Amino acid sequence: MTSSPAPLPRFSRITGTGSMLPARRLTNADLAAELAQRGVETSDEWIVERTGIRARHFVDATQCASDLAVVAAQNALAAAGRMASEIDLIILATSTPDMVFPSTACIVQRRLGIAGCPAFDVQAVCSGFVYALTVADSMIRTGAASKALVIGAEVFSRLLDFNDRGTCVLFGDGAGAVVLEGSATPGILATDLHADGRYVDILCVPGTVSGGQILGDPLLKMDGQAVFKLAVGVLESAARATLKKAGRHAGDIDWLIPHQANIRIMHGTARKLKLPLDKLIVTVDEHGNTSAASIPLALDVAVQAGRIRPGDTVMLEGVGGGFTWGAVLLDL
Ligand code: ACO
Repeated sequence: MTSSPAPLPRFSRITGTGSMLPARRLTNADLAAELAQRGVETSDEWIVERTGIRARHFVDATQCASDLAVVAAQNALAAAGRMASEIDLIILATSTPDMVFPSTACIVQRRLGIAGCPAFDVQAVCSGFVYALTVADSMIRTGAASKALVIGAEVFSRLLDFNDRGTCVLFGDGAGAVVLEGSATPGILATDLHADGRYVDILCVPGTVSGGQILGDPLLKMDGQAVFKLAVGVLESAARATLKKAGRHAGDIDWLIPHQANIRIMHGTARKLKLPLDKLIVTVDEHGNTSAASIPLALDVAVQAGRIRPGDTVMLEGVGGGFTWGAVLLDL
């Protein structure tokens, strides 16, 4: 007699979080002093008032995205009480991979000492973690995986034009990770992803590698005001769509973790959802914008601080180049 297969877990659930910041921390004053040596003028006052950023972390010349990702992943595994050998899926969101190929996910897989499970990168710029989490959730719910590492890792300092004060003060480096496991109960309640390629040009790094040369400009370009206007609108619509899919209301949200790019965008989003600002997790002040790493980093900081607790309902929201945006609503 053949036994019937075990029923598939219908949901996925985060069982551990972890993060990693490079040691080198620059306050706005530190950065302003470095920029002054290039004849680029900025100030702590301007940066804090327009963005809410007070400091950021930058890698040193020897560190890559995988160095940050591996530590974040190990911390998430420890928090989940899992061994690397139990992981059967790795998805890593980054726009600053170690190499053109193979994927940074494969490099992390090797450094975790595991082999065989699928590992791939997701490229959705600052929405990358929300995209990666949505893909991992789908793969777990279909039975393609049971224990996933979902990582956001970035070294945006490598893409910055330190002669452009409108962008170089905004970004930082870091990594965050979660372990996502199959579960009989949610976990992830609903997800919502979007992209609109008509806006490719408002936030991009247009260069590429060709014939051993860099073709085009390999530094970050941004139309800050165009990004700002789009971001507030899509963050509200993604949150509302996700709540509707889950049959929940904005009042059910215990914690809102939007992409950490600019405190004014984050406050605007909370206001549109009529959420009090004390439900907003803010790390942009200490990390700057770490692109795909910003959401899992903020989640881990809040979990470590004992603010977000098991059972809390959390809304994660990404927005970034592409233009891409999306949201994930979950019970921790
Ligand atoms: N220090 C001092 N002055 C500055 C600086 C700086 N670092 N940067 C710009 N300025 C000056 C400008 O030169 C300009 O001076 P001028 O009036 O003499 O010409 C003045 O400040 C105003 O510049 P704006 O660009 O109009 O400033 P704004 O209020 O729009 O703020 C900012 C710029 C902070 C970039 C804002 O547009 C913004 O936050 N946009 C959204 C950016 C964002 O969130 N990007 C990431 C989201 S997606 C992703 O994460 C990849």
